[in-house]
Amino acid sequence: MRIDIITVLPDLLQSPFNHSILKRAREKNLLEVNLVQLRDFAINTRKQIDDYQFGGGAGMVMMCEPIANCIDHLKKERDYDDIIYMTPDGERLTQKMSNSFSLKKNLIILCGHYKGIDERLRELYITREISIGDYVLSGGELAAAVLVDTIGRLLPGVLNDETSALFDSFQDNLLSPPVYTRPENFRELKVPEVLLSGHERKIQEWRHEKALERTKARRPDLLENED
Ligand code: ADE
Repeated sequence: MRIDIITVLPDLLQSPFNHSILKRAREKNLLEVNLVQLRDFAINTRKQIDDYQFGGGAGMVMMCEPIANCIDHLKKERDYDDIIYMTPDGERLTQKMSNSFSLKKNLIILCGHYKGIDERLRELYITREISIGDYVLSGGELAAAVLVDTIGRLLPGVLNDETSALFDSFQDNLLSPPVYTRPENFRELKVPEVLLSGHERKIQEWRHEKALERTKARRPDLLENED
């Protein structure tokens, strides 16, 4: 999969893709992340990419031409499955959405700043608008990093044990059950007996029960919208 990220702050996005699982995904050529500097597509020598908003009011708006030129340039090279705009007023990101993005071939992610992008770009170019939660970040870069992380780890061959992503929290609308490692006894707190029993079916049942308990207590909404 290839992901082109359009940003005015490419340096901010270097580190998240250079560690751990995403680094491995890139090294194995399962994921290619291409950072595109939006200012390279500015239409004046000041490298301007934002302007005052019509109608007045505080805050700048990201201009049409640099973003349109940048996306047109990328589209000349390949077809994209989606052009995603990271914005707090977008659809809230879910595991289900990441699962479906992980099946795509080429994506563009546009990181917004200031008051956001000119509405006409949303009409003309953007196919998905995604928020990572009900709070406002200073820009779309960290949100883009979150989105790419959730997608990258799902690509076949990225995780060592390919089945492990299937048991992540949210994959089946349940939070994960508690997990334990050595020692068996830590400050008088013991690992639940069943996990030491070697009895596979009982362990699975226990895990399911705990996952359900935890979901009911912490995120009952997940059990209500089972789709
Ligand atoms: N840009 C600013 N805040 C954001 C959010 N919560 N999600 C996605 N993009 C954003």
